[in-house]
Amino acid sequence: SCDPKEAAAAGAVEVAKEFIARASLVGIGTGTTVKEFLVRASGLLRGKRVVSSSLSTALSLSGEGVDVIYYPAGDALIDVYIDGADEVTLSGDMIKGRGGALLGEKMLAFFSRISIFVVGEDKLVEKLGSRGPLPLEVVPEAYPMVASELRSMGFKVVPREGSGKVGPLISDWRGMIVDLYTGPIEDPGDFDMKLHNIPGIVDTGLFLGMADYVVVGRRDCRYEVLR
Ligand code: A5P
Repeated sequence: SCDPKEAAAAGAVEVAKEFIARASLVGIGTGTTVKEFLVRASGLLRGKRVVSSSLSTALSLSGEGVDVIYYPAGDALIDVYIDGADEVTLSGDMIKGRGGALLGEKMLAFFSRISIFVVGEDKLVEKLGSRGPLPLEVVPEAYPMVASELRSMGFKVVPREGSGKVGPLISDWRGMIVDLYTGPIEDPGDFDMKLHNIPGIVDTGLFLGMADYVVVGRRDCRYEVLR
């Protein structure tokens, strides 16, 4: 048997290699699944321009001799973007951001021609929100009002702790990362719209209709591609 993450990473190399070969600009996200992908794909990435969604991905890529920049400077679309996710439905909708990054990853995925998400089968859910909270990015000054609005809608709201220091986790974009305990979300599109209608919520971890391919790795070492 296999680690589903590793099976997914191996499958993602198969799906991504033609796109990477033809790409001039490649985007790479963050997380342990992406790390497994990079172990297998760094050879394909050498000689390409690569943008990453986090300093940690940028550092591990530059350690592999890949020419990497941290967020794109310029208006060129990313040819192919590869990232992990926290929960995925069979229709390819996702929750991201449990690792603390959502807005940057959403920008990179949106401004890409092709986006490929890589997950172990343990990330598959019937309904988004079944496994954990929905991360939000919130303007810090608006947080008390946003939190009370969300609580009046019946949700538990918990600001993410900053790592190793006192105070909330602040993203690269100066937003607070806030976990919203929704339980299974019946209509993610409608719910996302309601959240976006609350001023102070900059973005949500709902990635709806954004995946061109989702590569799901299985314990039996095979992978399948949802699209
Ligand atoms: C980062 O905030 C997330 O969106 C990641 O993409 C996600 O947490 C995947 O990480 P793992 O591959 O480590 O599960």
